[in-house]
Amino acid sequence: MQIYLSRPDITAREIEAVCEVLRGPNLSLGPKLAEFEQVFAKYIGTKRAVAVNSGTSGLFLCMLALGIAPGDEVITTPFTFIASATSVMMAGARPVFVDIDPVSLNIDPANIEAGITENTKAIVAVEVFGNPAGLDRLCEIAQKHNLPVIDDSCEALGSALNGKKVGTFGTMSVFGFYPNKQITTGEGGMILTDDDYLADMCVSLRNQGRGKDSGWLGHDRLGYNFRLSDINCALGIVQLSRIDQIKAKRRQVAKWYQEILAEDARLIMPAEPDGCDMSWFVFVVRLAPSVADVSGLADGFTLEKRDRILQAMRSQNIQVGNYFPPVHLQPFMVEQFGYKQGDFPVTEAVSKSTIALPFHNNLTKDEVAIVCKTLKEVLDKN
Ligand SMILES: Cc1ncc(COP(=O)(O)O)c(C=O)c1O
Repeated sequence: MQIYLSRPDITAREIEAVCEVLRGPNLSLGPKLAEFEQVFAKYIGTKRAVAVNSGTSGLFLCMLALGIAPGDEVITTPFTFIASATSVMMAGARPVFVDIDPVSLNIDPANIEAGITENTKAIVAVEVFGNPAGLDRLCEIAQKHNLPVIDDSCEALGSALNGKKVGTFGTMSVFGFYPNKQITTGEGGMILTDDDYLADMCVSLRNQGRGKDSGWLGHDRLGYNFRLSDINCALGIVQLSRIDQIKAKRRQVAKWYQEILAEDARLIMPAEPDGCDMSWFVFVVRLAPSVADVSGLADGFTLEKRDRILQAMRSQNIQVGNYFPPVHLQPFMVEQFGYKQGDFPVTEAVSKSTIALPFHNNLTKDEVAIVCKTLKEVLDKN
């Protein structure tokens, strides 16, 4: 038996909704696109929502709509999925990393100002693993420096900080709907903003640069085909209607893990910080270097040891992940920007300690127990 790292949760309602679109005449740019955008904007609480074919496309379009261009710098975190940084590069700009907070694993707001130069044009915030901690302070600093915030909220659909939903903090926010996300459309993404100019620009850019009145073969600007089909949108509408149930299911799975693993001093557990309503995206534990050093930053273990543990888990048919290797140390980043080992010590220390455990809506209590038992046995031997 395999225990999967992630699995989509598709019910008969989603299947019926997709089939209904397939039986009709509008597979793209039809009513389901408008409906998905409408229910999404309503759920988050923004004026506009623009659906696109991936989170990455969404982030890239935010850069373009905000006028990010070659010569510009955009601040972001090195502890994230690669697209937070590559979307900056796609616009020809330079990602400037600042190190993370060792507890929230998000950008440490205290480090941001040191990264700001006269070329800085925006900040990309990320709620890593769904955790919104620090997002309010990041936005305050951005505002002080008159910088727009592009919130890469791809991992945090349904999270809130001090009662304010993720998706409403940034100048623009982006969610992603890859199948491991809280809701899926197969592939897909959504841009949120209160700014009509930015939303209209994204609508044009996702659809070959077409203008509002330019017709099918009139193009106002260089654009792309980043459209999300009505098939995907129909799936997304039903998934979003289930978001509260999905959040509750994931919270329950996280609780089972916490109950079994909390007492194990060899592990640092993920926790829901004060003031956060966390929508659990993944369940990532960290190897504790020693019982005394709860920050996890002492060099008490090696990347090799962590990878040995991952391998041992996989050999027992339990899928695990290494979220995230440091973005600044990816070979093309090193080559293009000259980043090196030691540049962002908190990120580097955290990265070599993480173990993402199987986590999805329908993981059972028995499966969680098997994962925990196996992890403890593997830790005993390593
Ligand atoms: C933080 C973050 N940003 C961006 C993305 C990119 O989203 P997509 O895979 O839909 O392009 C993802 C997830 O895949 C993500 O986790």
